[in-house]
Amino acid sequence: MEIRQARVDDAAAVTALIDLVAQNDATLGLDRYPGGADVLRRQMEGTPKDVSTFLVAADGGAIVGYAFIGRYITPTLAHVGVLSIVVHPAHRRAGVGRRLMDEGALWAGSVGVRKLTLSVLATNAAGRALFVASGFATEAVRKGQFRIGSADVDEVLMARWLS
Ligand SMILES: CC(C)(COP(=O)(O)OP(=O)(O)OC[C@H]1O[C@@H](n2cnc3c(N)ncnc32)[C@H](O)[C@@H]1OP(=O)(O)O)[C@@H](O)C(=O)NCCC(=O)NCCS
Repeated sequence: MEIRQARVDDAAAVTALIDLVAQNDATLGLDRYPGGADVLRRQMEGTPKDVSTFLVAADGGAIVGYAFIGRYITPTLAHVGVLSIVVHPAHRRAGVGRRLMDEGALWAGSVGVRKLTLSVLATNAAGRALFVASGFATEAVRKGQFRIGSADVDEVLMARWLS
């Protein structure tokens, strides 16, 4: 299993992975990747390398994990990056998420991002555990920010300072 930069021709596999996780887990707060593979492809092609990183975990020919970090370009926010991550259900608890987080933090540090942030549903025990294990701490909780099925679910905003 290798962690590498996503290529444009990975876009369909990445969005298929996100759609699978979105539909199976109710952890992402969405039901599919908005706009599909074409949107991701355009984002990959159009975003400068110091603004976003698209990382995949590749197991042979299969994409089993994905992480995205995008930084703000507004000067007052340019030290902040926003992270999201998914791992295929059949490849969890094998360190894929941790390796994607580590690689993402390396990229962030290399482009001057000092603060990594993310949003996680309060009900997402695996995600919260991974983020705490990766050095993130809770900054705020937005009550009932998501409506999942018939439940109001809190959104937890977490951050990790890199320097
Ligand atoms: C959250 C997620 C990315 C974790 O990926 P993963 O590859 O399984 O994580 P790792 O194997 O690298 O786990 C690293 C550490 O995180 C913690 N962790 C991960 N999953 C956990 C779980 N289900 N229960 C408890 N701790 C967990 C543990 O500390 C683990 O270390 P350990 O295995 O040595 O105990 C994965 O469960 C996932 O894709 N979930 C659905 C999408 C999602 O929730 N994304 C985040 C939304 S913001």
